Order: sequence, then C-alpha cells, then structure tokens
Amino acid sequence: MHDKIVILDFGSQVTQLIARRVREAKVYCEILPFSTPLAQVLTPGTKGVILSGGPASVYANGAPMIDKALYAAGVPVLGICYGVQVTAHVNGGKVVPAEQREFGRTEISTHGSDPLFHGLPAKQVVWMSHGDRVESVPGVTVIASSPNCPYAAVSVPALNFRGVQFHPEVAHTEHGAAILRNFLTRVCGCRGDWEMGSFIDEEIARIRAQVGEVDRVVLGLSGGVDSSVAAVLLHKAIGKRLTCIFVNNGVLRKDEAEGVRKLFADHIGIDLDYVDAAERFLTKLKGVDDPERKRKIIGHEFVAVFKEEAERIKRSSGGHVRFLAQGTLYPDVIESISVHGGPASVIKSHHNVGGLPADLGLGLVEPFRFLFKDEVRAIGSRLGLSDAVVWRQPFPGPGLAVRILGEVTPEKVRLLQEADAIVRAEIASAGLERAIWQAFAVLLPVKSVGVMGDERTYEMTCAVRAVTSTDGMTADWAQLPYELLGRISNRIINEVRGINRVVYDITSKPPGTIEWE
Ligand code: XMP
Repeated sequence: MHDKIVILDFGSQVTQLIARRVREAKVYCEILPFSTPLAQVLTPGTKGVILSGGPASVYANGAPMIDKALYAAGVPVLGICYGVQVTAHVNGGKVVPAEQREFGRTEISTHGSDPLFHGLPAKQVVWMSHGDRVESVPGVTVIASSPNCPYAAVSVPALNFRGVQFHPEVAHTEHGAAILRNFLTRVCGCRGDWEMGSFIDEEIARIRAQVGEVDRVVLGLSGGVDSSVAAVLLHKAIGKRLTCIFVNNGVLRKDEAEGVRKLFADHIGIDLDYVDAAERFLTKLKGVDDPERKRKIIGHEFVAVFKEEAERIKRSSGGHVRFLAQGTLYPDVIESISVHGGPASVIKSHHNVGGLPADLGLGLVEPFRFLFKDEVRAIGSRLGLSDAVVWRQPFPGPGLAVRILGEVTPEKVRLLQEADAIVRAEIASAGLERAIWQAFAVLLPVKSVGVMGDERTYEMTCAVRAVTSTDGMTADWAQLPYELLGRISNRIINEVRGINRVVYDITSKPPGTIEWE
C-alpha cells in the first residue's frame, strides 16, 4: 500500500496545485471536501493531512469548519492560509482582519530549526494572499515571520500541526515545493514511492479484479489522449475482452477516422467497432444554426449511437458486456464537488463531461479517476503510444460543428477539414505543437470579394485560432511569427477552393472562449 496524503479543500482556487506538488514529490494524494467525515479522511495509509486555503473568513456566517478531533488523531496536519486560520479558530486561538491585506511577493525570515524549512535559506520569498491573519494560538511556536505577518509560519506541537500563512503550492513561492516536500518526507515520513510504472501494474491488477475472468468491457474511443491511453491500458489488462466503439460523427478532422482505425485496430490489435454515423449526424444538423442546439443534437445522437452499439455487442457476446470504461480525469471529478454548493453558470454545454448516462446499465471502469492529464500522458508514453497521440491537442466532442458558424453542411465540413489540416501541418513543421494549446481553423459565414488571376472571387472566410493555455480555463492568443501566419494564409487560399480570405483571431479567454461556438 502506498502512503497517502489527504488534502481537505476549503475552496481555494489553487487546491489542485497542492495536489500537483504532492504528486511531484512522488506521494499519492486525494482531494476531499472539507466536510468529509474524519473516518473517511483517516483511512489506513493516510500519513498526513493538508488543509487548503479558501475565500471565507472564519467569522463569516456559514464559514467552512473542521472537526477538532482531527488534531488528536496523531496524524501530522499542515494548514495553508485559511487552513491555519480555521485551525487557530477551532482550537481557542484568535483570527483578526489584517490591518493591511497582503497579496503577492513577501520576504519571510525563518526561526529555529523546524523540519518544514530543513535545508532552506533563513530568508526567502513567498507568495501571500490573505485578508485575515492569526493573532494567537495556544501552545504556538513561530517558525517564520514577515514584517506584516508575525505568524507567517507556525508549529503547534500539541496539535501535531504546522501552518503557513503564505502559499507554498504556487510557483512564485521560491522554495514552496521544497517546503511541501519537507512536510511529506520529514514530518509525515512518506517514502515517495508513487510512480507511473507501479501505477500501471497496480491498475492492471485492479481492472482484472474488478472485471473478473469472463465479463467484457466497452469503451468510447475518441482518439483523444485520455480515451486512447485508457484503451491501451485496458487492452493490456483484459485483451480481447475489451471492445472500443469509435463513432464517426461526420464532423471529425481530416483523416482522423482512418488514423484511429489504423493505429488501434491494425497496429495495436485492439478490437475496434468503427461506426460510420456521419450521414445520420449531418442529417440531424441540417438547417440548424444555433450553437447550443448543434451541441445538444450531437451530444444526444452520440449517446443514442453508443447505446445501440453497446446493446448490439452485448447481444452478440451472449450478455457478457457488463462494464463501460472511461478516461475520466481527476479534475473532472473534483470540479463537480463545489465547496459553496452553488451551480456554476453554463457557458457551453460540454456533453462529454460527466460521461455517458447511467442508464446504460453498465458498471464503470475509470482507471484515471485520480490522475491529472500530464500523468496520463506519462502512462501513455510508458505504454508505448506515440507522441502524436500522447501530445494530441484537445478536440471538442461536437467537433468541427462548433467551428463552422451557422448551418453545418457536408461541403462546409470538407472545406474546413482542408483548411484545418493546413493549419495543423504548418504549426507542426514550425515545431510549435507543444508550445501551443490548440491551433485550428474556423469557417465563418461571411463571403467577401477577392481577385485571383484577374478573376473576381466571392468566397468564404476562414479564421485561424491559436492559443496558449495550461488548462483551457483561461487562454491567450498565440503570438505566431508573421512568416508562419503568411504561409498558413497563402496555403489555405491557394489550396482550398472556396476560401478567399484568412483572418487571425487575437482574442484571449476571457472575454472570448477558445472555440467560436
Ligand atoms: P471553450 O471554447 O469553452 O473551450 O473556451 C475550452 C476547452 O474545452 C474544449 N471544448 C470541449 N471539449 N466537449 C469537449 O470535450 C465540448 O463540447 C467542448 N467544447 C469546448 C475546447 O476545445 C477547449 O480546449
């Protein structure tokens, strides 16, 4: 069994970063809501608990609280920002609004020889972001201070507690990763043996135990990183008892369907059920130009096709299909737990977040439920998948339909496929694939006049969109070199009959979104 750290989430924007830093130190961790009963937090293997920051003030009505019994359980606890304040509050200390709110860069001085700062310089730059601050905690020892924050870091031996008012998880805190690593190894005694290699072996064993000796599994393969790596991992675990369903919805990129078939069926030897439903989707999309309706139609149709196929495979296997595998990632799982319980406003309906409906009557196999995308990429590489698959850019479930503004027709799909293939090929040959989060073409419902070889043209307009991002939540337009933009524009206009004008999108997110619909 691996050592485990539990991170209790009080609603900080950066709780996931704490998990990233812990995983980088090769220690397994899970994020749970602050209100999780202690019995579920302190399971065997839990070597320490981290309390995240959060936006509340401990004195506010309904402020998230913590069960005091945590501090008597004998497990080391580290509080970050709100995590220190809530600890002080429930243990008879005092938290007050700081006279001067403190945001950003601050220098702290450490005192004494607490293991949290082992091997680190006595003066270091940290990143603060707080309004309240701790003024007293019974039994406290100050282990770091700053001019504005006398309790920048504290230890309370009687509670087995350490706390930092600053944020060690953010990159701006000079020695933040080392401080967290010290907590994990020197305070909690974690061994740091969580690696992707051992994950693969353990997960294969777990899948075999879950699925058993005779049952079969279906998996919706999109060709994206998560479902592709999941397919290869499951294939390794149960071989031919896995059937991947790949639906051609008619709005895929150029050569995509053929590429997926070649790689998974021919090369890897996975049992691939290729469903060409292009006509069915395009017929449903006929005459529809509202973006949300397009998304809904595609989402609905995908579920219908998938269900029919799963039923067919079930019948032909004599009823042995009992499981559905999905490449669900950890961020999808934790984002669905809201600290405040309020519904987030719907900007776009992402039909595949949340997965296929529960009424398929199949058990779920989700090997990456606790992993981040870069960890899944590492697994993909270890399993031998090529960089082209492992580093594939995100592609939306509704495909090119949300990049063809207005009605989707087979002719427009063909035009966009050609233009998009040129954008991607040029980005790749400029060596920019990994530096850019997504680069693609969008077909606009705008015709304009041009002149080609003395002839007047009156044709469609294509927008090129390239953005940098780390998670798709925020993004900036990529400052592509002018020569590259020039090459892309020339090639599209020369090679794609029907497009005579190319524009570059220079909108960040927010206020724009990455996709145009
Ligand atoms: P937006 O356009 O909301 O996109 O800024 C953010 C990221 O999500 C992708 N995206 C989708 N992915 N199903 C998906 O699987 C969808 O319906 C969908 N819509 C947008 C988009 O490509 C970008 O990476």
